[in-house]
Amino acid sequence: MVMEFREVVRKRRMIRSFSDEPVDSAAVRRILDLARRGPSGGFSQGVEFVVVLDPETRHRIAAPADEVFEISGHHNFIAQAPVQIVICVSPEIYKARYREPDKMKVREGLDDDTLWVVPYWYTDAGAAMNLVMLAAVDEGLSAAFVGGDADLLHDLLGIPEDFIPIGIALLGHAAPDADRFGDVSGEPRKRRPYDDVVHQERW
Ligand SMILES: Cc1cc2nc3c(=O)[nH]c(=O)nc-3n(C[C@H](O)[C@H](O)[C@H](O)COP(=O)(O)O)c2cc1C
Repeated sequence: MVMEFREVVRKRRMIRSFSDEPVDSAAVRRILDLARRGPSGGFSQGVEFVVVLDPETRHRIAAPADEVFEISGHHNFIAQAPVQIVICVSPEIYKARYREPDKMKVREGLDDDTLWVVPYWYTDAGAAMNLVMLAAVDEGLSAAFVGGDADLLHDLLGIPEDFIPIGIALLGHAAPDADRFGDVSGEPRKRRPYDDVVHQERW
């Protein structure tokens, strides 16, 4: 079934309960092939992904969240998802790119502190994350994004030191009880109205 783009965007929700049904590896590849096509500052392309399928590794990645989930009375859905994608980004790649001659021409007089008030590596990692989420919906899958323990992810997955694991995208099929599991805080929040967040011509 082909879905309209606007339908994909509206349908996307963080899903916090996954069934055992496996995810087709070709779908994972298609999702990541789209995710790597996001925009990047200076076309630095500093975002990389680690796909984790091994059940034991997935459980080890999920384990640090046990405590938080216990406090909130939630369940730890992180290892339930048959696919974990750790999204990583290297600030060094951006800094090096913006020191290249074509960039130096247009950023004369800007020191690194001024240039990186907005760290583009996080902008780009977020853009890649959102592409993973949307591409998953487009594939008929469910997805979520959660934070991870950076030290554990570095050690466990051999992520190079200069790459920051910004979090984990989870892919899978929603379990029948998925509707019961909202945000960990348990407090339902409403989407802010259009006119509150969109300012016409000026704030
Ligand atoms: C940067 C970021 C971090 C998030 N971390 C978590 C998390 O650790 N655990 C979780 O359950 N949801 C997490 N979420 C999901 C948000 O709670 C969710 O996007 C928000 O409640 C809106 O719901 P929706 O995405 O289903 O529309 C995160 C979302 C973002 C963008």
